[in-house]
Amino acid sequence: MDTDRLLHELTDFLRIPSVSTLPAHSADCRAAAEWVKAELRRLGCRDVQFLASGTHPVVWGVGPEVPGAPTLLIYGHYDVQPPDPLGEWTTAPFEPTVRDGKLFARGAADDKGQVFCLLKAIEACGRPPVNFRFLIEGEEEYGSRVLFELLQREPERTRADAVLIADMAYIAPRWPAVYTMLRGLCYAEITVRTARSDLHSGEFGGAAPNAHEELLRLLGRLKSPDGKINVPGLYSAVRRPTKAELATWKSLPFSESEFLKHRVQANALTGLKRYSVLERLWALPTFEIHGIMGGFTSDGAKTVIPAEATAKVSLRLVPDQKLKTVERQLAAAVKRFAPRYVQASVRFLHGADPAVVKVTHPAFQLLDQAFREVVGRGTVPARAGGSIPVVPALGKGGAPVILTGIGLPDDRLHAPNEKLNLTQLWDGIRVFRRFYELLGTKGV
Ligand code: BES
Ligand code: MN
Ligand code: MN
Repeated sequence: MDTDRLLHELTDFLRIPSVSTLPAHSADCRAAAEWVKAELRRLGCRDVQFLASGTHPVVWGVGPEVPGAPTLLIYGHYDVQPPDPLGEWTTAPFEPTVRDGKLFARGAADDKGQVFCLLKAIEACGRPPVNFRFLIEGEEEYGSRVLFELLQREPERTRADAVLIADMAYIAPRWPAVYTMLRGLCYAEITVRTARSDLHSGEFGGAAPNAHEELLRLLGRLKSPDGKINVPGLYSAVRRPTKAELATWKSLPFSESEFLKHRVQANALTGLKRYSVLERLWALPTFEIHGIMGGFTSDGAKTVIPAEATAKVSLRLVPDQKLKTVERQLAAAVKRFAPRYVQASVRFLHGADPAVVKVTHPAFQLLDQAFREVVGRGTVPARAGGSIPVVPALGKGGAPVILTGIGLPDDRLHAPNEKLNLTQLWDGIRVFRRFYELLGTKGV
Protein backbone atom coordinates (compact mmCIF):
# COMPACT_ATOMS: atom_id res chain seq x y z
CA MET A 1 0.00 0.00 0.00
CA ASP A 2 1.38 3.40 -0.96
CA THR A 3 0.66 5.02 2.38
CA ASP A 4 2.51 8.23 1.53
CA ARG A 5 0.30 8.89 -1.46
CA LEU A 6 -2.86 7.94 0.45
CA LEU A 7 -2.00 10.21 3.36
CA HIS A 8 -1.37 13.02 0.94
CA GLU A 9 -4.75 12.52 -0.73
CA LEU A 10 -6.65 12.29 2.55
CA THR A 11 -4.92 15.47 3.72
CA ASP A 12 -6.25 17.31 0.66
CA PHE A 13 -9.78 16.20 1.51
CA LEU A 14 -9.47 17.11 5.21
CA ARG A 15 -8.08 20.53 4.41
CA ILE A 16 -11.46 21.62 3.01
CA PRO A 17 -13.47 23.22 5.87
CA SER A 18 -16.84 21.70 4.87
CA VAL A 19 -18.83 22.80 7.91
CA SER A 20 -22.42 22.20 6.82
CA THR A 21 -24.23 24.13 9.54
CA LEU A 22 -22.41 27.44 8.88
CA PRO A 23 -23.63 29.31 5.75
CA ALA A 24 -20.19 30.93 5.38
CA HIS A 25 -18.81 27.50 4.46
CA SER A 26 -21.22 26.70 1.61
CA ALA A 27 -18.52 27.00 -1.03
CA ASP A 28 -16.26 24.73 1.02
CA CYS A 29 -19.00 22.11 1.22
CA ARG A 30 -19.26 22.26 -2.54
CA ALA A 31 -15.50 21.90 -2.85
CA ALA A 32 -15.60 18.78 -0.67
CA ALA A 33 -18.43 17.42 -2.85
CA GLU A 34 -16.26 18.07 -5.91
CA TRP A 35 -13.41 16.18 -4.25
CA VAL A 36 -15.71 13.17 -3.74
CA LYS A 37 -16.99 13.45 -7.31
CA ALA A 38 -13.48 13.39 -8.76
CA GLU A 39 -12.62 10.39 -6.58
CA LEU A 40 -15.70 8.50 -7.81
CA ARG A 41 -14.74 9.24 -11.41
CA ARG A 42 -11.28 7.86 -10.72
CA LEU A 43 -12.91 4.67 -9.47
CA GLY A 44 -14.51 4.27 -12.86
CA CYS A 45 -18.05 5.35 -11.99
CA ARG A 46 -20.20 5.69 -15.10
CA ASP A 47 -22.68 8.06 -13.63
CA VAL A 48 -21.53 10.69 -11.14
CA GLN A 49 -23.92 13.48 -10.23
CA PHE A 50 -24.80 16.09 -7.68
CA LEU A 51 -28.35 15.44 -6.52
CA ALA A 52 -30.61 17.75 -4.54
CA SER A 53 -28.01 20.50 -4.65
CA GLY A 54 -30.35 23.14 -3.17
CA THR A 55 -28.08 23.23 -0.13
CA HIS A 56 -24.99 21.04 0.00
CA PRO A 57 -25.03 18.51 -2.85
CA VAL A 58 -25.58 14.82 -2.33
CA VAL A 59 -22.91 13.07 -4.40
CA TRP A 60 -24.33 10.09 -6.27
CA GLY A 61 -22.26 7.56 -8.17
CA VAL A 62 -22.83 4.31 -10.02
CA GLY A 63 -19.79 2.05 -10.16
CA PRO A 64 -18.72 -0.13 -13.09
CA GLU A 65 -21.20 -2.89 -13.86
CA VAL A 66 -20.26 -6.34 -12.51
CA PRO A 67 -22.84 -8.75 -13.98
CA GLY A 68 -24.26 -11.23 -11.50
CA ALA A 69 -22.57 -9.63 -8.48
CA PRO A 70 -24.53 -8.05 -5.62
CA THR A 71 -25.15 -4.31 -5.39
CA LEU A 72 -23.59 -2.52 -2.43
CA LEU A 73 -24.67 1.00 -1.53
CA ILE A 74 -22.05 3.01 0.29
CA TYR A 75 -23.34 5.87 2.41
CA GLY A 76 -21.18 8.48 4.09
CA HIS A 77 -20.87 12.21 4.65
CA TYR A 78 -18.30 14.79 3.62
CA ASP A 79 -19.55 17.50 5.96
CA VAL A 80 -18.08 18.15 9.39
CA GLN A 81 -19.05 19.85 12.64
CA PRO A 82 -17.78 23.35 13.49
CA PRO A 83 -14.21 23.25 14.83
CA ASP A 84 -14.60 25.63 17.76
CA PRO A 85 -13.16 26.21 20.35
CA LEU A 86 -10.17 26.84 18.09
CA GLY A 87 -7.81 27.69 20.94
CA GLU A 88 -7.95 24.11 22.23
CA TRP A 89 -6.54 22.51 19.08
CA THR A 90 -2.85 21.65 19.25
CA THR A 91 -2.64 22.18 15.48
CA ALA A 92 -5.29 23.93 13.39
CA PRO A 93 -8.41 21.81 12.59
CA PHE A 94 -8.08 22.21 8.82
CA GLU A 95 -4.30 21.77 8.69
CA PRO A 96 -4.13 17.98 8.98
CA THR A 97 -1.08 16.94 10.98
CA VAL A 98 0.38 13.55 11.89
CA ARG A 99 1.66 13.13 15.43
CA ASP A 100 2.55 9.80 16.95
CA GLY A 101 0.82 7.78 14.22
CA LYS A 102 -2.39 9.77 14.48
CA LEU A 103 -3.82 12.15 11.92
CA PHE A 104 -5.31 15.20 13.61
CA ALA A 105 -7.98 17.21 11.76
CA ARG A 106 -11.68 17.99 11.91
CA GLY A 107 -13.33 15.17 9.96
CA ALA A 108 -10.39 12.75 10.32
CA ALA A 109 -12.68 10.16 11.92
CA ASP A 110 -16.12 11.71 11.34
CA ASP A 111 -16.53 10.98 8.53
CA LYS A 112 -14.09 12.02 5.78
CA GLY A 113 -11.35 9.64 6.89
CA GLN A 114 -13.81 6.74 6.91
CA VAL A 115 -15.35 7.63 3.52
CA PHE A 116 -11.79 7.77 2.22
CA CYS A 117 -11.14 4.31 3.68
CA LEU A 118 -14.17 2.76 1.93
CA LEU A 119 -13.21 4.34 -1.41
CA LYS A 120 -9.53 3.41 -1.23
CA ALA A 121 -10.50 -0.17 -0.39
CA ILE A 122 -12.25 -0.29 -3.77
CA GLU A 123 -9.18 1.09 -5.46
CA ALA A 124 -7.13 -1.61 -3.70
CA CYS A 125 -9.33 -4.31 -5.26
CA GLY A 126 -8.09 -3.40 -8.71
CA ARG A 127 -11.33 -4.07 -10.53
CA PRO A 128 -14.49 -3.64 -8.42
CA PRO A 129 -15.86 -7.04 -7.30
CA VAL A 130 -19.45 -5.84 -6.75
CA ASN A 131 -21.84 -3.26 -8.18
CA PHE A 132 -21.17 -0.15 -6.17
CA ARG A 133 -23.58 2.70 -5.61
CA PHE A 134 -22.43 5.78 -3.73
CA LEU A 135 -24.46 8.21 -1.69
CA ILE A 136 -22.13 10.69 0.01
CA GLU A 137 -24.01 13.60 1.50
CA GLY A 138 -23.03 16.98 2.89
CA GLU A 139 -25.70 17.64 5.47
CA GLU A 140 -25.48 14.72 7.90
CA GLU A 141 -24.26 16.94 10.70
CA TYR A 142 -27.24 19.19 10.17
CA GLY A 143 -30.06 16.67 9.98
CA SER A 144 -29.89 15.41 6.35
CA ARG A 145 -32.98 17.28 5.25
CA VAL A 146 -32.25 17.24 1.50
CA LEU A 147 -31.38 13.57 1.56
CA PHE A 148 -34.62 12.69 3.35
CA GLU A 149 -36.56 14.44 0.62
CA LEU A 150 -34.52 12.71 -2.06
CA LEU A 151 -35.10 9.25 -0.57
CA GLN A 152 -38.80 9.96 -0.33
CA ARG A 153 -38.99 11.18 -3.92
CA GLU A 154 -36.86 8.43 -5.42
CA PRO A 155 -36.95 5.34 -3.20
CA GLU A 156 -35.86 3.18 -6.15
CA ARG A 157 -32.54 4.89 -6.64
CA THR A 158 -30.94 3.53 -3.48
CA ARG A 159 -32.20 -0.01 -3.86
CA ALA A 160 -29.33 -2.43 -3.13
CA ASP A 161 -28.53 -5.85 -1.71
CA ALA A 162 -26.74 -4.26 1.22
CA VAL A 163 -25.88 -0.81 2.57
CA LEU A 164 -22.47 -0.14 4.10
CA ILE A 165 -21.81 2.74 6.47
CA ALA A 166 -18.46 3.36 8.16
CA ASP A 167 -19.16 6.29 10.47
CA MET A 168 -18.52 4.68 13.83
CA ALA A 169 -15.72 3.23 15.92
CA TYR A 170 -14.34 -0.02 17.27
CA ILE A 171 -15.78 -0.63 20.70
CA ALA A 172 -12.20 -0.67 22.08
CA PRO A 173 -8.76 -0.97 20.49
CA ARG A 174 -8.65 -4.28 18.57
CA TRP A 175 -12.40 -4.80 19.03
CA PRO A 176 -14.27 -4.01 15.80
CA ALA A 177 -18.04 -3.68 16.07
CA VAL A 178 -21.28 -3.73 14.15
CA TYR A 179 -24.08 -1.60 15.50
CA THR A 180 -27.59 -2.84 16.18
CA MET A 181 -29.00 0.53 17.16
CA LEU A 182 -28.40 4.25 16.83
CA ARG A 183 -30.16 6.77 19.01
CA GLY A 184 -32.49 9.29 17.40
CA LEU A 185 -32.37 13.01 17.98
CA CYS A 186 -34.70 15.93 18.57
CA TYR A 187 -32.89 19.27 18.26
CA ALA A 188 -34.66 22.43 19.38
CA GLU A 189 -34.32 26.04 20.47
CA ILE A 190 -36.28 27.10 23.52
CA THR A 191 -36.87 30.85 23.69
CA VAL A 192 -38.18 32.79 26.63
CA ARG A 193 -39.37 36.38 26.27
CA THR A 194 -40.24 38.38 29.36
CA ALA A 195 -40.72 42.00 28.24
CA ARG A 196 -40.92 44.30 25.20
CA SER A 197 -37.24 45.19 25.49
CA ASP A 198 -34.21 45.01 27.77
CA LEU A 199 -34.44 47.09 30.94
CA HIS A 200 -32.05 48.98 33.22
CA SER A 201 -31.33 46.59 36.07
CA GLY A 202 -31.24 49.40 38.61
CA GLU A 203 -34.43 51.11 37.56
CA PHE A 204 -36.36 47.85 37.17
CA GLY A 205 -34.37 45.19 39.04
CA GLY A 206 -36.36 43.68 41.88
CA ALA A 207 -39.70 44.07 40.15
CA ALA A 208 -39.26 43.07 36.49
CA PRO A 209 -38.89 39.50 35.16
CA ASN A 210 -35.50 38.44 33.79
CA ALA A 211 -35.50 36.24 30.67
CA HIS A 212 -32.32 34.37 31.59
CA GLU A 213 -33.56 33.62 35.08
CA GLU A 214 -36.84 32.33 33.68
CA LEU A 215 -35.10 30.26 31.03
CA LEU A 216 -32.75 28.70 33.59
CA ARG A 217 -35.61 27.82 35.89
CA LEU A 218 -37.48 26.31 32.98
CA LEU A 219 -34.45 24.24 31.91
CA GLY A 220 -33.99 23.18 35.53
CA ARG A 221 -37.53 21.88 35.63
CA LEU A 222 -36.99 19.83 32.46
CA LYS A 223 -34.35 17.63 34.08
CA SER A 224 -33.78 16.67 37.72
CA PRO A 225 -30.36 16.53 39.36
CA ASP A 226 -30.53 12.71 39.40
CA GLY A 227 -30.66 12.75 35.57
CA LYS A 228 -34.35 12.06 35.11
CA ILE A 229 -35.92 14.01 32.25
CA ASN A 230 -39.19 15.54 33.36
CA VAL A 231 -40.90 15.73 30.00
CA PRO A 232 -44.27 14.12 30.69
CA GLY A 233 -44.72 10.87 28.77
CA LEU A 234 -41.13 10.77 27.51
CA TYR A 235 -40.21 7.43 29.05
CA SER A 236 -43.44 5.60 28.22
CA ALA A 237 -42.22 4.36 24.81
CA VAL A 238 -38.73 3.46 26.05
CA ARG A 239 -38.09 -0.24 25.60
CA ARG A 240 -35.59 -1.85 27.98
CA PRO A 241 -32.86 -3.94 26.38
CA THR A 242 -33.45 -7.67 26.68
CA LYS A 243 -31.73 -9.69 29.40
CA ALA A 244 -29.59 -11.34 26.73
CA GLU A 245 -28.49 -7.98 25.35
CA LEU A 246 -27.62 -6.65 28.81
CA ALA A 247 -25.62 -9.82 29.43
CA THR A 248 -23.56 -9.32 26.25
CA TRP A 249 -22.87 -5.71 27.25
CA LYS A 250 -21.40 -6.99 30.52
CA SER A 251 -18.88 -9.03 28.53
CA LEU A 252 -17.72 -6.07 26.39
CA PRO A 253 -14.31 -4.53 27.10
CA PHE A 254 -15.82 -1.49 28.81
CA SER A 255 -14.99 -0.23 32.28
CA GLU A 256 -17.02 2.55 33.86
CA SER A 257 -14.07 3.86 35.83
CA GLU A 258 -11.78 3.87 32.78
CA PHE A 259 -14.53 5.62 30.84
CA LEU A 260 -14.66 8.34 33.50
CA LYS A 261 -10.92 8.65 33.91
CA HIS A 262 -9.71 8.49 30.30
CA ARG A 263 -12.61 9.47 28.10
CA VAL A 264 -14.91 11.80 30.01
CA GLN A 265 -12.04 13.17 32.11
CA ALA A 266 -14.39 14.79 34.59
CA ASN A 267 -14.74 14.32 38.35
CA ALA A 268 -17.83 12.17 38.26
CA LEU A 269 -20.34 10.51 35.96
CA THR A 270 -23.92 11.72 36.09
CA GLY A 271 -27.29 10.38 35.03
CA LEU A 272 -29.67 7.75 36.30
CA LYS A 273 -27.49 5.83 38.74
CA ARG A 274 -29.61 2.72 38.86
CA TYR A 275 -28.72 1.94 35.24
CA SER A 276 -25.28 0.89 34.08
CA VAL A 277 -23.29 3.48 32.15
CA LEU A 278 -23.72 1.56 28.89
CA GLU A 279 -27.47 1.53 29.44
CA ARG A 280 -27.42 5.28 30.03
CA LEU A 281 -25.39 5.77 26.83
CA TRP A 282 -27.22 3.30 24.61
CA ALA A 283 -30.69 2.58 25.91
CA LEU A 284 -32.00 5.72 27.59
CA PRO A 285 -33.05 9.11 26.25
CA THR A 286 -31.02 12.21 27.08
CA PHE A 287 -31.62 15.92 27.43
CA GLU A 288 -28.62 18.17 26.81
CA ILE A 289 -28.22 21.94 26.77
CA HIS A 290 -25.78 22.90 24.02
CA GLY A 291 -25.63 26.64 24.53
CA ILE A 292 -27.53 29.63 25.90
CA MET A 293 -27.81 32.88 24.01
CA GLY A 294 -28.98 36.37 24.86
CA GLY A 295 -28.28 39.09 27.41
CA PHE A 296 -24.87 40.64 27.78
CA THR A 297 -21.83 38.43 27.19
CA SER A 298 -19.23 40.79 25.70
CA ASP A 299 -16.15 42.10 27.49
CA GLY A 300 -16.76 44.43 30.37
CA ALA A 301 -19.93 44.91 32.35
CA LYS A 302 -23.40 46.09 31.41
CA THR A 303 -26.24 46.37 33.89
CA VAL A 304 -29.24 45.13 32.00
CA ILE A 305 -32.22 42.85 32.48
CA PRO A 306 -32.43 40.79 29.30
CA ALA A 307 -35.88 40.52 27.74
CA GLU A 308 -35.09 37.42 25.74
CA ALA A 309 -33.01 34.27 26.16
CA THR A 310 -32.66 31.18 23.99
CA ALA A 311 -31.24 27.76 24.74
CA LYS A 312 -30.18 25.25 22.11
CA VAL A 313 -31.07 21.81 23.41
CA SER A 314 -31.47 18.29 22.16
CA LEU A 315 -32.90 14.99 23.26
CA ARG A 316 -31.49 11.64 22.14
CA LEU A 317 -34.17 9.05 21.49
CA VAL A 318 -34.14 5.29 21.91
CA PRO A 319 -36.44 2.52 20.65
CA ASP A 320 -39.45 2.81 20.48
CA GLN A 321 -39.58 6.59 20.83
CA LYS A 322 -40.71 8.55 17.80
CA LEU A 323 -39.37 11.97 16.85
CA LYS A 324 -42.83 13.40 16.14
CA THR A 325 -44.16 12.31 19.53
CA VAL A 326 -41.14 13.63 21.41
CA GLU A 327 -41.45 17.00 19.66
CA ARG A 328 -45.03 17.24 20.88
CA GLN A 329 -44.05 16.16 24.39
CA LEU A 330 -41.23 18.71 24.63
CA ALA A 331 -43.40 21.57 23.36
CA ALA A 332 -46.11 20.66 25.87
CA ALA A 333 -43.61 20.43 28.75
CA VAL A 334 -42.20 23.89 27.94
CA LYS A 335 -45.71 25.37 27.90
CA ARG A 336 -46.50 23.68 31.16
CA PHE A 337 -43.34 24.66 33.07
CA ALA A 338 -43.11 28.29 31.95
CA PRO A 339 -44.91 30.75 34.25
CA ARG A 340 -47.90 32.42 32.66
CA TYR A 341 -46.24 35.85 32.56
CA VAL A 342 -43.49 34.74 30.14
CA GLN A 343 -43.73 33.87 26.48
CA ALA A 344 -42.01 30.53 25.94
CA SER A 345 -41.66 28.97 22.50
CA VAL A 346 -39.93 25.98 20.94
CA ARG A 347 -38.49 25.84 17.44
CA PHE A 348 -37.42 22.44 16.11
CA LEU A 349 -34.29 22.51 13.95
CA HIS A 350 -33.89 18.89 12.94
CA GLY A 351 -34.16 15.37 14.18
CA ALA A 352 -34.20 11.66 13.55
CA ASP A 353 -35.95 8.52 14.70
CA PRO A 354 -33.82 5.91 16.45
CA ALA A 355 -32.53 3.19 14.12
CA VAL A 356 -32.74 -0.52 14.85
CA VAL A 357 -30.75 -2.95 12.70
CA LYS A 358 -30.89 -6.74 12.71
CA VAL A 359 -27.42 -8.19 12.21
CA THR A 360 -28.43 -11.68 11.07
CA HIS A 361 -28.18 -11.19 7.29
CA PRO A 362 -25.31 -13.19 5.68
CA ALA A 363 -23.52 -9.95 4.69
CA PHE A 364 -22.69 -9.41 8.38
CA GLN A 365 -20.87 -12.75 8.47
CA LEU A 366 -18.71 -11.65 5.53
CA LEU A 367 -17.73 -8.46 7.32
CA ASP A 368 -17.04 -10.46 10.45
CA GLN A 369 -14.77 -12.76 8.45
CA ALA A 370 -12.94 -9.82 6.85
CA PHE A 371 -12.23 -8.27 10.26
CA ARG A 372 -11.16 -11.63 11.66
CA GLU A 373 -8.71 -12.19 8.85
CA VAL A 374 -7.21 -8.70 8.95
CA VAL A 375 -7.28 -7.59 12.58
CA GLY A 376 -7.57 -10.95 14.31
CA ARG A 377 -11.00 -10.46 15.84
CA GLY A 378 -14.51 -10.47 14.41
CA THR A 379 -17.21 -7.85 14.97
CA VAL A 380 -19.05 -7.61 18.27
CA PRO A 381 -22.64 -6.38 18.14
CA ALA A 382 -23.03 -3.14 20.08
CA ARG A 383 -25.25 -0.08 20.19
CA ALA A 384 -24.25 3.53 19.58
CA GLY A 385 -25.30 6.62 21.43
CA GLY A 386 -24.91 8.87 18.38
CA SER A 387 -27.29 9.33 15.47
CA ILE A 388 -27.24 9.12 11.69
CA PRO A 389 -30.57 10.58 10.61
CA VAL A 390 -31.13 8.71 7.33
CA VAL A 391 -30.38 5.21 8.58
CA PRO A 392 -34.04 4.26 9.19
CA ALA A 393 -34.92 5.50 5.68
CA LEU A 394 -32.03 3.60 4.08
CA GLY A 395 -33.22 0.41 5.76
CA LYS A 396 -36.79 0.77 4.53
CA GLY A 397 -36.12 -1.03 1.25
CA GLY A 398 -35.29 -4.19 3.21
CA ALA A 399 -31.57 -4.31 2.53
CA PRO A 400 -29.34 -4.91 5.58
CA VAL A 401 -27.70 -1.69 6.78
CA ILE A 402 -24.21 -2.52 7.97
CA LEU A 403 -23.13 0.07 10.53
CA THR A 404 -19.49 -0.22 11.39
CA GLY A 405 -16.33 1.85 11.44
CA ILE A 406 -12.61 2.12 11.85
CA GLY A 407 -12.52 4.84 14.51
CA LEU A 408 -11.50 4.34 18.12
CA PRO A 409 -13.43 5.47 21.19
CA ASP A 410 -10.91 8.24 21.92
CA ASP A 411 -11.14 9.96 18.49
CA ARG A 412 -12.83 13.08 19.99
CA LEU A 413 -15.59 13.45 17.38
CA HIS A 414 -17.05 16.97 17.26
CA ALA A 415 -14.41 18.10 19.79
CA PRO A 416 -10.99 19.75 19.62
CA ASN A 417 -8.10 17.53 18.42
CA GLU A 418 -10.27 15.02 16.54
CA LYS A 419 -7.97 12.32 15.15
CA LEU A 420 -7.76 9.05 13.29
CA ASN A 421 -5.10 6.47 14.09
CA LEU A 422 -3.33 5.69 10.82
CA THR A 423 -3.04 1.97 11.61
CA GLN A 424 -6.84 1.93 11.87
CA LEU A 425 -7.01 3.46 8.39
CA TRP A 426 -4.53 1.07 6.79
CA ASP A 427 -6.16 -1.94 8.46
CA GLY A 428 -9.55 -0.58 7.45
CA ILE A 429 -8.58 -0.43 3.79
CA ARG A 430 -7.53 -4.10 3.97
CA VAL A 431 -10.70 -5.09 5.85
CA PHE A 432 -13.12 -3.46 3.42
CA ARG A 433 -11.19 -4.66 0.40
CA ARG A 434 -11.52 -8.21 1.75
CA PHE A 435 -15.21 -7.61 2.53
CA TYR A 436 -15.93 -6.41 -1.02
CA GLU A 437 -14.12 -9.42 -2.46
CA LEU A 438 -15.99 -11.86 -0.21
CA LEU A 439 -19.25 -10.20 -1.15
CA GLY A 440 -18.35 -10.52 -4.83
CA THR A 441 -17.38 -14.18 -4.70
CA LYS A 442 -19.82 -15.53 -2.11
CA GLY A 443 -22.75 -13.20 -2.83
CA VAL A 444 -25.60 -12.72 -0.37
N1 BES B 1 -20.82 9.72 13.02
C1 BES B 1 -21.72 10.41 13.87
C2 BES B 1 -22.69 9.51 14.55
C3 BES B 1 -22.11 8.61 15.60
C4 BES B 1 -21.17 9.04 16.50
C5 BES B 1 -22.57 7.35 15.68
C6 BES B 1 -20.68 8.20 17.45
C7 BES B 1 -22.08 6.51 16.62
C8 BES B 1 -21.12 6.93 17.51
C9 BES B 1 -22.50 11.41 13.06
O1 BES B 1 -21.72 12.13 12.15
C10 BES B 1 -23.09 12.44 13.96
O2 BES B 1 -22.36 13.09 14.65
N2 BES B 1 -24.38 12.61 13.91
C11 BES B 1 -25.03 13.66 14.57
C12 BES B 1 -26.37 13.74 13.93
C13 BES B 1 -27.14 14.98 14.16
C14 BES B 1 -26.37 16.24 14.06
C15 BES B 1 -28.37 15.00 13.29
C16 BES B 1 -25.11 13.38 16.05
O3 BES B 1 -25.21 12.22 16.46
O4 BES B 1 -25.07 14.34 16.82
MN1 MN C 1 -20.47 10.93 11.11
MN1 MN D 1 -20.70 13.72 13.41
